[in-house]
Amino acid sequence: MTYENILFERTDGIAVITMNRPRALNALNAATIGELNAVVDAIAADSSIRAVIITGAGEKAFVAGADISEINTVTSALQGTQLSESLHAVFFKMAELPQVVIAAINGFALGGGFELALACDIRLASENAQVGLPEVTLGLVPGWGGALRLQRLVGTGMAKYLVLSGERIKAAEALRLGLVEKVYPAEELLGAAHALARTITKNAPLATALAKRLINRGAEMSLRDAVAYETGIFGQLCTTADCKEGTTAFLEKRPAVWQGE
Ligand code: HXC
Repeated sequence: MTYENILFERTDGIAVITMNRPRALNALNAATIGELNAVVDAIAADSSIRAVIITGAGEKAFVAGADISEINTVTSALQGTQLSESLHAVFFKMAELPQVVIAAINGFALGGGFELALACDIRLASENAQVGLPEVTLGLVPGWGGALRLQRLVGTGMAKYLVLSGERIKAAEALRLGLVEKVYPAEELLGAAHALARTITKNAPLATALAKRLINRGAEMSLRDAVAYETGIFGQLCTTADCKEGTTAFLEKRPAVWQGE
């Protein structure tokens, strides 16, 4: 399947989604959102894909936000609400994927672009990246979960600082604030994303999938409920062939061979 605004490649179990509207700095218009939804569905249905990388085409932008020219044509609250809902559904599907989703932020990740990165599991950035939620400069609030994911990631104070100021944060500062996990020279970013994907996919598949789910679901629970959930997952994994293999391989001083069972 080919797409108009997205490049989608799969190599050795790693899928790369490249947001590809460079003339608009990869801004998310309705067509691109529909394509991203279809790509995420394709990944959910393909167990040969073990990890996903999302990046932007060109050297300037990851994604510069929702397409402002489309927002400018919205004429009713219902239409605006539907625009907001359109990516919420896709982002929740990404959270439910067993595969890790890594954002490789190769330039501007603003508004909806940063919200896309925040919906990924792990954020890597290039030294020239800038992130921010400038929606208030347009008379809006972040409508794809950005303020709320940011609050959960870095706390209420920093979420309010970034959302109310609309300030653009350069990569080094973004790293210091915990908005991204690692920063690389631009030419090393994609290689680093692939290396991280390979590191993660060398680990036990069920364990990594359930670790992602534990952290995602646990963030929505009280600590007491979350550790009860953790206990169930830990118990479930103790009965898997992969746990037997992983622990036996350790004792026999050899690499584990995973079955994903
Ligand atoms: C549509 C966009 C765009 C966007 C850039 N472009 N961002 N088009 N939607 N979000 C277009 C520009 O209009 C321009 O087109 C071309 O891309 C290059 O952009 P320039 O502005 O000329 O580049 P530069 O001067 O380098 O500035 C880069 C930039 C700036 C700082 C990233 O483009 C910018 O501020 N963009 C908007 C960022 C933003 O506010 N994002 C939040 C959007 S609201 P032409 O045709 O002139 O060459 C949002 C809401 C999400 O995301 C929630 C929805 C529910």
